[in-house]
Amino acid sequence: MKLLCIGSGYVGLVSGTCFADLGNDVICLDIDEKKVETLNKGIIPIYEPGLKELVERNLKQGRLKFTIDTENSIKQAEIIFICVGTPPKANGEADMSFVYNAAESIGKHIVSYKIVVTKSTVPVGTAEKIKRIINAELKKRKKKIDFDVVSNPEFLREGAAVKDFQNPDRIIIGTSSEKAKETLARLYKPISRATKPIMFTTEKNAELIKYASNAMLATRISFMNELSHLCEEIGADIKAVAKGMGLDTRIGSRFLQAGCGYGGSCFPKDVKAIAQILEQYGFTSNLLRTVDYINERQKRSLVPKLKKFIPKLEGKTIAIWGLSFKPRTDDIREAPCLTVIDQLLKEYAKIKAYDPEAMENAKKVLKKGVVFAKNAYEALKDADALIILTEWDEFREPDFAKIKKLMKQHIIIDGRNIYDPIELKKLGFKYKGVGR
Ligand SMILES: NC(=O)c1ccc[n+]([C@@H]2O[C@H](COP(=O)([O-])OP(=O)(O)OC[C@H]3O[C@@H](n4cnc5c(N)ncnc54)[C@H](O)[C@@H]3O)[C@@H](O)[C@H]2O)c1
Repeated sequence: MKLLCIGSGYVGLVSGTCFADLGNDVICLDIDEKKVETLNKGIIPIYEPGLKELVERNLKQGRLKFTIDTENSIKQAEIIFICVGTPPKANGEADMSFVYNAAESIGKHIVSYKIVVTKSTVPVGTAEKIKRIINAELKKRKKKIDFDVVSNPEFLREGAAVKDFQNPDRIIIGTSSEKAKETLARLYKPISRATKPIMFTTEKNAELIKYASNAMLATRISFMNELSHLCEEIGADIKAVAKGMGLDTRIGSRFLQAGCGYGGSCFPKDVKAIAQILEQYGFTSNLLRTVDYINERQKRSLVPKLKKFIPKLEGKTIAIWGLSFKPRTDDIREAPCLTVIDQLLKEYAKIKAYDPEAMENAKKVLKKGVVFAKNAYEALKDADALIILTEWDEFREPDFAKIKKLMKQHIIIDGRNIYDPIELKKLGFKYKGVGR
């Protein structure tokens, strides 16, 4: 099939490439000329395991193209996926301008029947709004062209995006059009499984399923982060508590890790957006507002722990391991590092940071006061303390003897609970994790 992804970020690039790998002809469109230029050379602007090989293979075989040519790419496609960003506005509401612009372009340029699919995470009612925008453009052109709008939210996780796309837990397709249903069922057939089927539903249900899923996962994390404070007070271990809870099949073990808070481009914005939507309809969203509040508080909870060991941080060197919001991605959007580094800089601490993949992105945002180290150990030289913010595998089994030699003071604040507190104390470290 001939597909178009409008927006070649994490979602558009991964979905477009994976669809091409299934044999479809895919165009990925973006307004960022530089991004398109590098992608056409096979250079991937994001770090996502397995993606580079797939892009190279499909570019070579001519099934994948990157372009800035909105008009022609829209004309050629049978199915158009809207994969543009929906970032939060200051009041938490999703900024829908990119989605609406994409819809406008579709209305301006279609010449034949299209299936327009929203992959971006959007508020309930967006499919209707997209229909209205396209129809308004067609009216201006005095054209009557048939099209269907489908909500097909994307559930891939950064860091495992290719794998998730190819082996999804579920595929949600929200539409009332039989033609769109049949076409998308054919498109997704190679990756749907008997046990993980396609769920057909209404546009509104599909739109809400995405927000509700992210809000539920974020709630689990904030729930555990809330409990972590109690664990610290009473001398319990949140990891043991999570393990015991997770053995209950009604609860399950995933997304029960306490830590330094969730980040990324989805959970923080989607929790705020769904709370805002509820409020728009006249309901107070105490639960989701609190989930968000707990997360912000959690991001701020590590520096006070550090200050118990070093009350005055001025002039002290603090090493940071991990900048990305989670391992196996270079994405630092809403990452805990942004809050923690801001807190440290306000206390006039010196910061030496290291991340295996996210340093280029971090350099663009953290312009002052941070020295970026070439490797994890270089960041530790003469450091008074180490704060761990991302649980990259390479931080899990470090050479602690080497760490002791390099650091001036042997203090570790572990925002991801990757070390054993008893072992670290035995090794001579002053160690504090989260909730233990
Ligand atoms: N990142 C994730 O893990 C993830 C997972 C599931 C869903 N989502 C949702 O998918 C959407 C996209 O997220 P993302 O992380 O891929 O965003 P992103 O910011 O990485 O990419 C968006 C891209 O769209 C481009 N763009 C904007 N307007 C355009 C237009 N009119 N024409 C062509 N290109 C345009 C931008 O230049 C950018 O490259 C969001 O709604 C997000 O919530 C993201």
